[in-house]
Amino acid sequence: MKSLTPFYDPSISYEENYAQGPFGLFRQLDKAQQVSIKPSKFLNVEVNLPFGQPAGPLLNANYIKAAFAYGFDLCVYKTVRTKLHKCHPLPNVLSVHPNGKLSCNLDTVLADTNYSQPLSITNSFGVPSFAPDVWQPDMADAVKSAGHGQCVIGSFQGTQGNGEIEKDYALAAKLVRETNAPILEANLSCPNEGASKLLCFDIDKVERIVNEIKMAVPDRPLILKLAYFADDEKIISLLNRVGSIIDGLSTINTLSAKPVDAHGHPALGENRKEGGVCGDAIRWAGLDMVSRLAKYRQEMDLKFAIVGVGGVSSSEHYHQFIKSGADAVMSATGAMWNPLLAIEIKKNL
Ligand SMILES: Cc1cc2nc3c(=O)[nH]c(=O)nc-3n(C[C@H](O)[C@H](O)[C@H](O)COP(=O)(O)O)c2cc1C
Repeated sequence: MKSLTPFYDPSISYEENYAQGPFGLFRQLDKAQQVSIKPSKFLNVEVNLPFGQPAGPLLNANYIKAAFAYGFDLCVYKTVRTKLHKCHPLPNVLSVHPNGKLSCNLDTVLADTNYSQPLSITNSFGVPSFAPDVWQPDMADAVKSAGHGQCVIGSFQGTQGNGEIEKDYALAAKLVRETNAPILEANLSCPNEGASKLLCFDIDKVERIVNEIKMAVPDRPLILKLAYFADDEKIISLLNRVGSIIDGLSTINTLSAKPVDAHGHPALGENRKEGGVCGDAIRWAGLDMVSRLAKYRQEMDLKFAIVGVGGVSSSEHYHQFIKSGADAVMSATGAMWNPLLAIEIKKNL
């Protein structure tokens, strides 16, 4: 497996990556090859290949422009909020070494800076955001930079403590709409509040949030970003309540784990004992969620699109997700360490 310079540098802060990145091949846009593809439809837009990067690695318009140049046709702009929100201190990213698959039961995993393939990482940022007066013009610039058959998806979330969370989600959606992003994505699976307390598991709240967002922005498709649901009943309940209102579901976010150093101490620091794990060790969970969603979509005669995420780092993984029922596929960890991933998938179609 190829190991290239990652376009996000884990050894420096989020703010430094924001200001100086992207790195590696993503700085050399003239090296990008164009592979031409017959476009298809994803939601309301025409896309060359329904493949791209989920919310996270693409911090701003400079990252999005590089991702478009390297053929990632669906690019999610990293989750934004209605107010400035600081990033957790370093480390934000570490390599983790589970024995094979990570379970969804808060496994303890060794974490260090040895980024070996097949790669899994922990990411712990706390969903930082600049204030809207900074991110809105930048997101608008990213939206405009999309080439033919490419599209920016604007990811956002509400913040606890900014009044009613539903209203803050709706305000964030309106602010994203103002940038002209053609598709919106609400992040309901932020792991920073603890694995058992993820918003997407509180179905009453999800329904209220979805209704508020749809009232605030009725004219843009809405995707919900979901975590891994161990329980089928909960998936059915979610689909019963919002399955015909939303336009897409993107899954999965990370699986939570306890990253420790070689001495068994919390690797992200004493006050961050848990971190979300992504990359190779969670692909099983992404594939499992996608196939269960596809099954219930058919059984319940629903129409939403499914975005498959989790551990995609090769053409084979892309096709596994499509076969499981995904309408689009995205890669964060795999793409960060291999900026040529979209080109490779297109060449192997
Ligand atoms: C560096 C990094 C930052 C991330 N930030 C966000 C985020 O802001 N919002 C979000 O919904 N997901 C975020 N994620 C989760 C990814 O969108 C994705 O769901 C997860 O990484 C699994 O995909 P992967 O195995 O391809 O990495 C982030 C992931 C990474 C690696």
